[in-house]
Amino acid sequence: MQTFQKLSLPNMGCGTWAWGNQLLWGYDESMDDQLQAVFNLCVSNGVTLFDTGDSYGTGRLNGRSERLLGQFNREYVGSNRENICIATKLAAYPWRWTRQSMVKACQSSAQRLGKNVDLVQMHWSTANYAPWQERGLLDGLADIYEQGLVKGVGLSNYGPKRLKQVQKKFAQRGVPITTVQVQYSLLSTYPVTQLQLKDVCDELGIKLIAYSPLALGLLTGKYSVGGFFPKGIRGLLFRQILPGARSLLACLQEVALSRNKTMSQVAINWCICKGTIPIPGAKTVEQARENIGALGWELDCGEIAELDKAAASADKKMVQNIFQTK
Ligand SMILES: NC(=O)c1ccc[n+]([C@@H]2O[C@H](COP(=O)([O-])OP(=O)(O)OC[C@H]3O[C@@H](n4cnc5c(N)ncnc54)[C@H](OP(=O)(O)O)[C@@H]3O)[C@@H](O)[C@H]2O)c1
Repeated sequence: MQTFQKLSLPNMGCGTWAWGNQLLWGYDESMDDQLQAVFNLCVSNGVTLFDTGDSYGTGRLNGRSERLLGQFNREYVGSNRENICIATKLAAYPWRWTRQSMVKACQSSAQRLGKNVDLVQMHWSTANYAPWQERGLLDGLADIYEQGLVKGVGLSNYGPKRLKQVQKKFAQRGVPITTVQVQYSLLSTYPVTQLQLKDVCDELGIKLIAYSPLALGLLTGKYSVGGFFPKGIRGLLFRQILPGARSLLACLQEVALSRNKTMSQVAINWCICKGTIPIPGAKTVEQARENIGALGWELDCGEIAELDKAAASADKKMVQNIFQTK
């Protein structure tokens, strides 16, 4: 068995889905310089966890997000370099089902990054639709750790029941699970309030990563009923959710004003106060700077309770990931 350098996980990370997916998020290659600047700003401010996936970037942009992260990492000069943690997620593609295919996938990610992956995560569970497939994938995930290819292993879109089963299986091989990531925000409280995933993570010593902590941008306050909406799927989704989220957004704005913070900062800080590691996606230096302003202070109990109440009473919530298990 290998000995591993401990993974250092900060209070907040940065998601890079937007850096790889042209169709969903309007990424184009002219953004690369600005994304390097986002990376530099994050790392120099102690935001050293970067989350990506081998499926981020399709068609001509295949593997683009991992390649970009590798390039940014190589070019970064400055403080906190030693703490950079690059986390990727390996997709449960239908054609990927042997344990060896997972090891190969991790090696391909490392090749695109130009360095070893720090934290490798199973992107989603196939338990809901092809349970037979998952065994090989999970065995392969544990193989990756045993072979010393990564410092840590994580899961994504897993609920507490399935997590406990995988944790037990991995424990028999001496493979610890470092993280679980789920969609968690003021508009997606389901994994914690209904599934009680945070309690189970605490019990098992696993860190909970909150993805889409800004509800894809809805919690930033820049969208309003009758105003402009982003193009594509996000626009459709926002049109449906926004009317039912008005009181939550009003509460967020009130807390933000009284704190002299922005709504994005309050939404991200709320995730941190809940003991999770949020990974907001940032496309510009301005967004990254604003999001970094969520660090270094804490909402008080009264503010958290107000936000919890407003979140619970929102008529519409974010749609849960179809792969999220119980
Ligand atoms: N495990 C999974 O299945 C899964 C699924 C989804 C995401 N993730 C991970 O989570 C990361 C983040 O999630 P996400 O990108 O889906 O959602 P998010 O972090 O909730 O929203 C990010 C989007 O909000 C806007 N934004 C960010 N900061 C802003 C600011 N300060 N002011 C105004 N607008 C701001 C940007 O879009 P605009 O500028 O276009 O408005 C940005 O792309 C992803 O990159 C990915 O790594 C994982």
